[in-house]
Order: sequence, then C-alpha cells, then structure tokens
Amino acid sequence: MEDFTSEAGKIQKEIDKISSIAPLDQLQIKYLGRNGIINNLLKDIKNVPAEEKKDYGQKLNELKSSIGRLIETKKQELLEKSGTEQTVDITLPGKPYLHGTLHPITYAIEEISRIFEKIGFVRMSYPEVEWEYYSFEALNMPKGHPARDDFETFYIDVPEHAKLAKMVLTPHTSSGQVREMERVRKTLPAGRQAPIRMINIAKCYRRNWDATHAPMFYQFEGMVVDRGINITHLKGTIDYFAKNFFGPDREIRLRPHHFQFTEPSFETDISCNVCGGTGTVNGKKCRVCKSGWLELGGSGMIHPNVLRAGGIDPDVYTGWAFGFGPERCLMMKLGLSEIRDLYSGDIRFLKQF
Ligand code: DAH
Repeated sequence: MEDFTSEAGKIQKEIDKISSIAPLDQLQIKYLGRNGIINNLLKDIKNVPAEEKKDYGQKLNELKSSIGRLIETKKQELLEKSGTEQTVDITLPGKPYLHGTLHPITYAIEEISRIFEKIGFVRMSYPEVEWEYYSFEALNMPKGHPARDDFETFYIDVPEHAKLAKMVLTPHTSSGQVREMERVRKTLPAGRQAPIRMINIAKCYRRNWDATHAPMFYQFEGMVVDRGINITHLKGTIDYFAKNFFGPDREIRLRPHHFQFTEPSFETDISCNVCGGTGTVNGKKCRVCKSGWLELGGSGMIHPNVLRAGGIDPDVYTGWAFGFGPERCLMMKLGLSEIRDLYSGDIRFLKQF
C-alpha cells in the first residue's frame, strides 16, 4: 500500500521532466496501457490476502485515476504552449487585409466635380429636403401647372409655408438654381448680380423604379449666368465635359425640347461609342443607341422668369443650365444596363470597379 503512494510521487516527477507530447504518450502506455504497470498490478490481486483485497483494489484504482489526471493536465499544458508558439511564427506569410474602395457612383461624382472645377465652376450641394417654391414656383412652374406632374414628387407631411409652400424631397437639382442666384448676389457689390458658375451635385427623389430609374438618384446641374452668355457657351461646355469624361472622340448635339425653366430648351445627346455615332454596326442598326446618339439629359437658356425669381435682371444678364445624371453617365461609360446593380450593395458587382 505504501508503495502505491510513493509510486504516485515518482510518476509526478517523471511527468515534470517531460516537455513534448510523444514521451507523454509513451508514459501513458507504460502505466495505463493494456499491459501497463497498473493492469499488471490488478492481475496480482489474486495473490493478495482476502482481507486486504478490497483495500488493495480501491487504492490501485485511485492511483490509476490520479495518473490519468496528471497526464491529462500535462497534455493540455503542452498543447496550449505549442498553440502560442505557432501564432508567433514570424516566418508565416501575413494575412492580406480586405480593403474597400469608394463606390463607383462616388468616383463618378468626384470625376465630374474635378472636370468642372478645372474651368472655374463652384461645387455646391443644395438641400435634399426642399421647399416646393425652389423646386417649382421659382422655376416658372406655378401651382397647378401640369409640368409638375413630370417630376413624380414625394411630399413631406409638415405644415405648409406661406410663401415657400409644401416641403418635398427635391425631385431635381434645378431647385439649386435660384438658391445659388440668391447666394451669389449677397457676395457681390451692390448693383452686380453675376457672374455665376455653379455645379450642383445632389441626391434627388422621384416615385420611379425600373431598369434605368431609381427612386433616389443623383443629378449634376451646371449653371452659368453673366452678361452676354449664349448657347455657344452651353454647347462648348457640354462638349468639354463629354470629351473629358467619356473620351476625346465623342461628339455632342442639342435637340429642341421643352422645359418650363429654360427657353429655348434642349435634350442633349452624345455620340454612341459602340457604333461611333453612325447608328449602324456591320450594316445592322446599333443595338445600344439605334440612332447614333445617346441622351445625356436636359439643358437650355435660363427662362427670364427664373432669373427674375433669383433677383437677376434678364435684360442685363443671360444664362444657361443643364441637368444630367452621374449614374446615367457612369452606366454609359461602363456599358451597364441596370441602375439597380449600382444600388444593390452587392459586393460581387461592386468589387469589379
Ligand atoms: N431638371 C430637369 C429634370 O430633372 C433637367 C433639366 C433640364 C435641367 C433642363 C436643366 C435644364 O438645368 O436646363 O428632368
């Protein structure tokens, strides 16, 4: 019996010396294996006097489980140690960090800004939550005018303002035109009402949702007001933008149209890059544009009533404006057909850009 107690102490010492798993496994087999020391001692029980048998068996079993515990504890200790050693293995190659990029629409907006800032335009962002006055009345669309229906506007449920009327989610960046006229006038010496060179890039909202329209989208609105401004300045500026954003071989054209806030008004087209503006590819109608031209957006000479609303005398000053969509420009540049892909947030789509 005393042998058993001293045996446990000896085994503990043996275990203390061990510093890796393999010798520990061998030790386990030596003591606890089928032909190990414990089992052999158990077989010896037949030689033990009858009155000592019970005590002998009990002590032996206690020894067996305490050896088991000692080995197990040591094993955990060794495993933990080898684990920490691995994490500081400085020879392993580092894990690459996933890093994001700006959204393609953000890139497009930054590029558009840069193109216009280079020729002296001031970048503005006018409110997304706007008064009806700036969205419509000030733009020559009085209350009840049918042209307002084109803008499929979201209304905000707040009390109406006596002059500015209801609140809306701005349906177009043209709402920044009169705001900018008011802002610039305040910065100029008395008696002067211009020059203005603005690029207003902001979010707009309309009740629309299909392949090329999202209910929230961006527009960029260019506006120039000064003495002697005419259509050639409008055309030259859009041509400069088209060549810088889309490429030097692109052409633009103005096509007569109607907007309440410009007179004359135009739809602005850019030559198609698929058919080179010819409308045909290998003798067949171009599938992208069908006519050689793609629509960029609206433009025109600012209506005298709009200048008046901004406190500018239309007998002294003239101006032009245009309103295009960065998403549409980006889609035309990259050859995308679904605006909803741009707004899906799907990383598999976005990481291509
Ligand atoms: N605001 C118009 C729209 O959202 C686009 C537009 C047309 C803007 C003509 C202009 C313009 O500045 O002159 O459909």
